[in-house]
Amino acid sequence: MSERKRIYLQPIPVRIWHWSNAFGIITLILTGAQIRFPESITIFPSYKSAIQVHNVAGLIVAVSFTLWFFYYKMVRNTLDKLYIPTEEDLKHGLARQLAFYCFWYFLGKPSPYHATPDSKFNPMQKSAYLAVMFVLVPLVALTGILLMNVTPLRVLILMSGGIKIIDALHFLLACSLLAFLCTHVYLATLGKTPLAYIKPMVTGWEDEPEHEEESAEEATTPGYRPVRHYPEYSGLPQEKRP
Ligand code: HEM
Repeated sequence: MSERKRIYLQPIPVRIWHWSNAFGIITLILTGAQIRFPESITIFPSYKSAIQVHNVAGLIVAVSFTLWFFYYKMVRNTLDKLYIPTEEDLKHGLARQLAFYCFWYFLGKPSPYHATPDSKFNPMQKSAYLAVMFVLVPLVALTGILLMNVTPLRVLILMSGGIKIIDALHFLLACSLLAFLCTHVYLATLGKTPLAYIKPMVTGWEDEPEHEEESAEEATTPGYRPVRHYPEYSGLPQEKRP
């Protein structure tokens, strides 16, 4: 018997955080590019205005990051569970998901991972989001704060290797964020339709794909999309059941 369900995947605080963060990061990248290459890039009216907008966007990202952390850690207490890959994710899940993105997707096969509110991310998303939210964003913010306050934070800057090192680090971290953003937006369009994954980030709700009735064990295993549904995955190790 086939059924069609909707699941509430993205609560309002996550959606507010996500889009204000995306807006802030994109603004930071555009203004940052003008600050770094003022002769070639003139998106904003002047160098000074690019710096002012850059600082405001930095503040938006810092506030939305705090909202994100507070919501997942204090309100939901699901930060570790959602964002930290399991041993099984690292051993087999990453390879399986990579095989899907690089190969099976182009043959029209469905993703081997099935999102649920308790386990929203596939192993590749978990690893990428962990690196972005726990390393890239905090470090780019930290180096930015040092660059914004060179005189008062002079001692800290000298202890970290000097202004040139901090500046180079800030630039390289920002380039990594840009690389993440391009990959993230591309992968976000690989649902059943190009907007299938983006819609839940706007409305909160995801339409579950039509599928045969699941066994009781499968239905109670969060985030587990049985590999046996897809014979082409059978060569890859199956996800361990709890
Ligand atoms: C126009 C830009 C962006 C688009 C279209 C976009 C799209 C999406 C979509 C569709 C999702 C839900 C599917 C999924 O979990 O992968 C998502 C989640 C996520 N995005 Fe983005 N994104 C954008 C920018 C960003 C930026 C700039 C960052 C961070 C620097 C970011 C970080 C994340 C994170 C951490 C999640 C998981 C959120 C959660 O459910 O806890 N995104 N994004």
